[in-house]
Amino acid sequence: MDYTRLSDANEITERYMDSILIGESFIDSVKADTGIHFLGADFSMPVMTPAFSHLGSYGGRKMNGLEEYSLAAKECNVLNFCGMMENDMFRKIADTGAKTVRIIKPYADNGKIRDQIAFAEEAGAFGVGMDIDHIFGEAGYDVVVGEEMAAQTTDMLRSYVESTKLPFVVKGVLGVSDALKCAEIGARAIIVSHHHGRMPYAVPPMMVLPKIKEALKDTTVKIIVDCGIASGADVYKALALGADAAAVGRSMFHHLENHGVAGVEDFLMHVGNELRFIMSCTGFSKVSDIDDSALYFL
Ligand SMILES: Cc1cc2nc3c(=O)[nH]c(=O)nc-3n(C[C@H](O)[C@H](O)[C@H](O)COP(=O)(O)O)c2cc1C
Repeated sequence: MDYTRLSDANEITERYMDSILIGESFIDSVKADTGIHFLGADFSMPVMTPAFSHLGSYGGRKMNGLEEYSLAAKECNVLNFCGMMENDMFRKIADTGAKTVRIIKPYADNGKIRDQIAFAEEAGAFGVGMDIDHIFGEAGYDVVVGEEMAAQTTDMLRSYVESTKLPFVVKGVLGVSDALKCAEIGARAIIVSHHHGRMPYAVPPMMVLPKIKEALKDTTVKIIVDCGIASGADVYKALALGADAAAVGRSMFHHLENHGVAGVEDFLMHVGNELRFIMSCTGFSKVSDIDDSALYFL
């Protein structure tokens, strides 16, 4: 007989998120406003794009998928993210005019990290950061598309933060100790994430979020959540548990593949509209007011 145990962090995350339910509150409630002020800029909603990399062009269209979703982010006025890439690709993303945070890999080549930070700043990036959860692979230090990764110390991360005037975002925080180190080095935001389940049994980001929020309560570090975010309800739950914003992920993919810029725009607007609907139905007129009082756990 086949014996398999559930160890897929994506499935565990999905089940956890589905176990969180939402009560309603209509009397004295008004239509909610999803706008946010985030790291010095105004955005239409606390929904962000994922730090994707290595996308092709879809449906015979000329533009790369990364450029397409960046254009959609600009049109929807949401904060845009991108991941591992060389500088020429980042230039194309910056040229879309989207406010973009460039997430740089924990390369073993420290010079490459510094070069990509400097290039992002020069190209007009909104922010830079690093996905610290891609340091290790099962064979030791990870090798990503032929590039070696390496351990990153607190001092190394601090030196990246200090090397740029851009806000620095640490992606892949999934515990209190890393969250506190991020605050200590001057990171302006963290992304609570398990990087679509790289590690078996990684805790659902929303499950660890309240602890991280509590640990950072005396700091100004902003908290973004990703992994499994596919709807306005998911974003609402993240905000209620202490996040300032949430990023969609592979849920965006088929909209991008099938309908390009317009498809991603429709998807992001749908997520934002569902968020506004749920905020209105739970009596929260502003994003910053949302707390966990309407949440129920199965
Ligand atoms: C095709 C693809 C490429 C990705 N590339 C990167 C990357 O270069 N850097 C990074 O930090 N995360 C990268 N990610 C991870 C996403 O930013 C995000 O953390 C993850 O997809 C969230 O999980 P979800 O897709 O289940 O929502 C990538 C994900 C996908 C699907």
